Amino acid sequence: MYTEKVVEHFRHPHNMGKLKEYSAVGKVGNILCGDVMWLYIRVAKDEQGRDVLADVSWETFGCTAAIATSSMVSDLAKGRTLEEAITISNRDVANELGGLPPIKMHCSGLAADALNEAIYEYMTKEGREIPAALQERHEHIQKDMATLEERYKVFLDRGAAKDDASAAAEPSCS
Ligand code: FES
Repeated sequence: MYTEKVVEHFRHPHNMGKLKEYSAVGKVGNILCGDVMWLYIRVAKDEQGRDVLADVSWETFGCTAAIATSSMVSDLAKGRTLEEAITISNRDVANELGGLPPIKMHCSGLAADALNEAIYEYMTKEGREIPAALQERHEHIQKDMATLEERYKVFLDRGAAKDDASAAAEPSCS
């Protein structure tokens, strides 16, 4: 089902954990499965004075493919300029892993979206002009996140109602 590269990145993920010092973080969730990812970036100038992703790390709660794509996106983004990193797509991530099963393609979207959101947060904080493609993708991701929160809220509300009903049905100890 998974390529050897996916399994390798899942077993030995690269750049996992939270950076001690970071410039921005991208937080995303997937409305299909409920998996979530935080991607941290540290931006610094290179010798030519360009902004580059000097360090990238991540924390992901998700499936095998989500872990492997998080690992791969961090490898792909590290050392890239902001302009280059913005162009990294979920296809690029999946291709670098030797492909993903069709049902798992959305997992690569999670990783690419988290990178997008981290760069968006950084550029916003720095008062930079946001490229149209970055803005468009950001709005799409935020819309999906709002849907996830709405669904999760319904789920939590149902759980709370069930707990209340169970508590009311419990015999008293008096
Ligand atoms: Fe959730 Fe893979 S099944 S990201």
